[in-house]
Order: sequence, then structure tokens, then C-alpha cells
Amino acid sequence: MDYVVALPAAGSGKRMGAGKNKLFLTLANKPILIHTLEVFERDPHCTGIFLAVKQEEREYIQSLLNEYIITKVKGLPNGGKERQHSVHACLKVMEDAEIVLVHDAARPFITHSVIRRLVKTAYEKGAAVAGVRAKDTMKKVKNGIIVETVNRDDLWSIQTPQAFRFELLRQAEEDAERTGFLGTDEAMLVERLGHEIHIVESSYENIKITTKEDLIFGEAIIKHRQLNNES
Ligand code: CTP
Ligand code: MG
Repeated sequence: MDYVVALPAAGSGKRMGAGKNKLFLTLANKPILIHTLEVFERDPHCTGIFLAVKQEEREYIQSLLNEYIITKVKGLPNGGKERQHSVHACLKVMEDAEIVLVHDAARPFITHSVIRRLVKTAYEKGAAVAGVRAKDTMKKVKNGIIVETVNRDDLWSIQTPQAFRFELLRQAEEDAERTGFLGTDEAMLVERLGHEIHIVESSYENIKITTKEDLIFGEAIIKHRQLNNES
């Protein structure tokens, strides 16, 4: 089942503290941004990539696309101040498609198998997000004091990709923009419309490269995958 993908890549990577967009840092000698793009470049069901970029980084990103022969990028709109604005910029330049995926450019380890399940669920039910079960004991804390232990069985860590019927996401984005609502993911915007969102169980490897330690985890994931392919 075919889909198009919106990849927000216009952040500044403050928590990484590298003094530049963290997506240009390398894992196994290749920029994080390229690792993520290659997943979609190599997925025959992905018919177009829409990448939100910072104006001042466009030229450099274009040169990376040429160097690594990424051919499916069909739009490179300017990103916005918040992630949600960057996703919105992608949707505005997108061709009509039945299913749209939104995926953080900072999550390079997403697999085709999770993408396939998300697209199928979104096609059947309208909305699906990747997530993993919470591993730690979870407690609600106020002013440094525990007020409640939350039942872990009900808790999931939500990731991207998040997949939607195109019209549903467009409607949710428009409604959020009109009312000035800012969410931390696309699911929040769709939840507001009262539409149910399905969870697709993903992998703990699908980390978001956020702080310096994540570079160590990232290198380890790549090594582990290389070893497994060789055996
Ligand atoms: N992003 C974006 N536009 C923004 C902010 C973020 O396109 N205004 C993108 C980032 O490039 C990243 C994804 O959204 O691929 C997830 O955001 P995050 O991990 O928070 O990245 P940054 O915002 O770059 O990092 P930080 O929050 O530490 O500054
Ligand atoms: Mg951010």
C-alpha cells in the first residue's frame, strides 16, 4: 500500500548541544538525516518525500541529497518555529495521497515492517501511531513528591511514524492552526477531533536522536544490525 511521508528536519538540536542541526551529525560516517531518508528511498511503497528544512540549510541539504542519490524528495518547504509548523509546511506542498506518514527525521532506525503495519492500519482505521510499552515503573509527581503510581499496563511511549488518512490529518492540522492549538505530535491534533487512533507496537530501537548519549546508542544499534545481517 502506497504512502507519502512528511519529514520535519528544521529543528536546531538544542538538547544535543552540537552547535548545529543534530541531523548533520554522523552515525557510522553517514549523516543522521541520510540514514532516515534512505529508509524511505528504499521502500517501494513510498511515493514521495516532503522534507521541511531551514532556509539557511536548504543548499547544504540539497548537496547531501545529490551526494547520497536520494531521488524521492518532491518538496523542500521552509520549516517553522515549532515542529508542528514544519509538518504543516510539508502538508501544504504535498500532492494528494490516500495515506500520509509523519516521521521525525531524527529517528533513523525505523523499519519497513513497522511502516507497513502503520500504513495498513491507517488505511483501514484512519489513524495509527508507533509506540512501545513503558518499561519503567511510572509515577505522577507534583512538587517533587509522588502523588500516584500509574498502572504501567496502560502506558505507552509514543514515537513516530504516525500515519493518517490524508484528509483526516489535513482537517486536524487546519483546525489546530485556526484555533492556535499546539500539540507535541500529530495524534494530539487528531484526538481533538474525537477520532480514535490505533497503536502499532514498534521497536525500542526506534529511538529519537536527542542528546549526546543517543549517538552511542545509535552506533550500537548499527553495529548490532550489521552483525545480525552477516550471520
Ligand atoms: N523539527 C522541525 N521544526 C522545528 C522543530 C523540530 O522540523 N521547528 C524537527 C527536528 O528537525 C526533528 C523532529 O522535528 O527531526 C523532532 O524534533 P526534536 O527531536 O525536538 O529536534 P530539535 O527540535 O532539533 O531538537 P531540540 O528540541 O533539542 O532543539
Ligand atoms: Mg525540538
